[in-house]
Amino acid sequence: MTILELLNGSTNYLKGHQIENPRLNAELLLARSLNLSREELYIQLHGSLKEREKEALEKLVQRRISGEPLQYILEHQEFWSIDFKVDPRVLIPRPETELLVEQSLLILSENSFKRVPSVLEIGTGSGAIAIALAKEVKIIFLIATDISQDALVLAKENAKSAGVQHQIKFVNGDLFGPLRPSKERKLFDLILSNPPYIIRPEIGSLAKEVRDYEPIIALDGGEDGLEFYRRLISQAPFYLREEGWLLLEIGQGQGEKVTDQIEKNGAFLKQQILPDLSGIERVVKAQRK
Ligand SMILES: C[S@@+](CC[C@H](N)C(=O)[O-])C[C@H]1O[C@@H](n2cnc3c(N)ncnc32)[C@H](O)[C@@H]1O
Repeated sequence: MTILELLNGSTNYLKGHQIENPRLNAELLLARSLNLSREELYIQLHGSLKEREKEALEKLVQRRISGEPLQYILEHQEFWSIDFKVDPRVLIPRPETELLVEQSLLILSENSFKRVPSVLEIGTGSGAIAIALAKEVKIIFLIATDISQDALVLAKENAKSAGVQHQIKFVNGDLFGPLRPSKERKLFDLILSNPPYIIRPEIGSLAKEVRDYEPIIALDGGEDGLEFYRRLISQAPFYLREEGWLLLEIGQGQGEKVTDQIEKNGAFLKQQILPDLSGIERVVKAQRK
């Protein structure tokens, strides 16, 4: 059997199991099982396969059909044009989250800080956001936290692969908790977070790939999905400099509920809801008084 024949067969099989983009999935899985790049795979389409190579692909295809996300099988995901290792310890970074990076860069470029800008990311997961920022801004004081020690191990690995391990301090703990032990409270120019925001009773109806494979701790936003916003908004003013910024990714339809909380908090000067490329409200941006 040639590579092309196996590719066609796998594509049809994946399609028959309602996998989206079956051809792309088949190509990436086959390239992975043969340890080739996609380009190398194309060049060898008419080459033949050994039985054990066929079996290796079949195993990967079965994992995909049972609902495992392609990114976990391939163990990587691109974000901000950087290659990240991902596995079930972390949420797969989503393209719409790049808006948080864009807005952070805008804030950092618009404010001519007379000191090294200090940034805190809460709930870093794979490290995608903090690492993208560290790649873009060489002189920066960056702390990235996560309650999941497992996620931090992977985030540190990703920071090393991206060559920015010396620019980010990763700390473990609940929200601002890890910052408290220091006697002198650190104040940040920017605090950002893509917190868990799925409404708990709706987790069961998420796509199988998300529900059964991505870490629940990265998804569960409490009974109304807003638990983390309440906590972040009430505590952030104590850790922000005057006129410092808070940037929060939000889920669909959460914009007004989050801005209401910011308004009620009273510590913020102005705020804005920003849409992503699909026109969905995605980021809330607020400036501390
Ligand atoms: C939606 S994921 C975002 C991951 C990553 N920043 C991204 O955008 O791809 C939320 C992250 O928050 C972390 N998290 C959950 N509860 C937390 C808490 N109480 N304190 C700090 N981090 C928390 C999760 O482990 C997860 O990595």
